[in-house]
Amino acid sequence: MSTVNKKGVACVTGGSGYIASALIKMLLEKGYAVKTTVRNPDDTAKNSHLRELQALGPLTVLRADLDEEGSFDEAVAGCDYAFLVAAPVNLETENAEVRGHHRTQWRRTQKNQGVAEITAKKMHAVI
Ligand SMILES: NC(=O)c1ccc[n+]([C@@H]2O[C@H](COP(=O)([O-])OP(=O)(O)OC[C@H]3O[C@@H](n4cnc5c(N)ncnc54)[C@H](OP(=O)(O)O)[C@@H]3O)[C@@H](O)[C@H]2O)c1
Repeated sequence: MSTVNKKGVACVTGGSGYIASALIKMLLEKGYAVKTTVRNPDDTAKNSHLRELQALGPLTVLRADLDEEGSFDEAVAGCDYAFLVAAPVNLETENAEVRGHHRTQWRRTQKNQGVAEITAKKMHAVI
């Protein structure tokens, strides 16, 4: 994917998910280049919609898992914006300790890559 893009490059994590898919579509339609992550890029049943979205603009799909240290570094590298949308939607694992660990992982990646996370407040300015 060319990183030369008029609007910039956005990382959207959890590209197989509902919210991330809609956000990726919106960003591509607005002219952003997008890097997204999924846990298993080979899972065509889960990720086929991403192939279709690639027709809209530059979209790169990378593998990353919140449970793996440094897993998002490649996805966030070179991005102007980063949206943390990936989240375990599983009541059994959704406890404060796991959420805290995932949040720490993400903040470390953002800091290392020098990219600010887009919060809901700032999101309207981007999209
Ligand atoms: N849907 C709504 O109406 C709504 C409304 C308000 C807020 N939200 C919030 O938005 C976020 C996403 O919701 P959603 O509805 O889009 O959920 P979703 O469709 O279930 O998507 C969740 C995504 O998170 C990824 N994921 C889960 N565990 C992961 C891990 N350990 N490492 C990396 N990726 C992981 C999944 O990837 P895999 O495919 O690899 O499992 C999937 O792409 C959640 O925090 C949810 O609470 C949703």
